[in-house]
Amino acid sequence: QISEAEVALFSVSSYACQRRTTLDNHNSNLTDALSLLAENAELSNEDGRGVAFRRAAALLKALPTQVISMSQLRGLPCLGEHSLRVIKDVLENGVSSEVESTKQSKRYKALKILTGIFGVGAKTADRWIREGIYNLEQLRDSGQTLNRAQKAGLEHYDDLNEPVTKAEADAIGEIVQKAVNSVLPGSEVALTGGFRRGKLTGHDVDFLITHPEEGKEVGLMPKVVAWLESQGFLLYQKTTRNSYLESKDGPARPASNMDRFERCFSIFKLTKRKEQETASHKIWRAVRVDLVVSPISQFAFAVLGWTGSKLFERELRRWAGHEKNMSLSSHALFDNTQNKYLRATSEEEIFAYLGLEYIPPSERNA
Ligand code: CTP
Ligand code: MN
Ligand code: MN
Ligand code: MN
Repeated sequence: QISEAEVALFSVSSYACQRRTTLDNHNSNLTDALSLLAENAELSNEDGRGVAFRRAAALLKALPTQVISMSQLRGLPCLGEHSLRVIKDVLENGVSSEVESTKQSKRYKALKILTGIFGVGAKTADRWIREGIYNLEQLRDSGQTLNRAQKAGLEHYDDLNEPVTKAEADAIGEIVQKAVNSVLPGSEVALTGGFRRGKLTGHDVDFLITHPEEGKEVGLMPKVVAWLESQGFLLYQKTTRNSYLESKDGPARPASNMDRFERCFSIFKLTKRKEQETASHKIWRAVRVDLVVSPISQFAFAVLGWTGSKLFERELRRWAGHEKNMSLSSHALFDNTQNKYLRATSEEEIFAYLGLEYIPPSERNA
């Protein structure tokens, strides 16, 4: 039996971007439970609840040791009533009854299966469920009209739900590098997303492309895509052009959190190495790849914005707005007090402008 006085108390900053969150999570029993409820809320279009659960999970990920008693959590930020109830349940009973019943619910199971199709979001899945579609077989039989992305998603369903390894990410990195060098020598490719944060697997591979000479990057994406296509590397691609300059609402305040870079959501056809070949003798697999092109003047902001985690990014923007009267996006940092843009050529400079200690990518796993 441990007395209250012996229990370690934690002191933790309230914004995730003030904390160092490595992949070494001492409370995965609790964060798994809260993350599942966050996911369920997001899939049900309850974004506020989703963020609350994500913040609570992120706080627990940042703790240096395992939580064993509710008393250790007293005075900690980010833990709302609902999250505390879930934590208490797990600490006392090993599982959360709310998590267990969510996991077993017909609706949650269907949402997971349907949104597991690339191109299918919470809204579409919800509509299908209301029409009685709960799984892939029912979807195929329903005669629903699928768009090009969803068709590709369904076709490569198993591959795309298989985690991507770091070795596969590196192999794709080499292909992207080759493509970019072939169409515009001197261009640079940076690995972003979860793999830059040191994750060993991911749901996709994210790359940011730029050129050291401002303006040279214009029109680069269609050329890269054409090269990849000509070499047979693409199973699917959708390119969206840069809309940053045309935006009327001001670059630092886009309508949503979506940035306006030229981007390509794609599915790569990655040839397996001999030892990775499976019993089915399929010699390739489908992998989701995101490509983004940024002008060099915005590159530091783009790298910061595309490295994640999603919650870390959200918290950075919240910190900038609420604590510094600044607007941060993946394009720029605007100081509303001085009424001017703050230039930066490195992530370190951006953290310094924000009055934050520099947090390296491996410690942004909030
Ligand atoms: N991102 C973005 N705009 C999008 C999609 C993603 O700015 N339309 C950013 C996210 O904010 C995140 C980063 O790109 O910081 C990577 O997103 P994603 O690939 O979804 O997540 P990862 O952290 O890479 O995790 P995973 O391993 O599951 O891919
Ligand atoms: Mn540790
Ligand atoms: Mn990713
Ligand atoms: Mn991505």
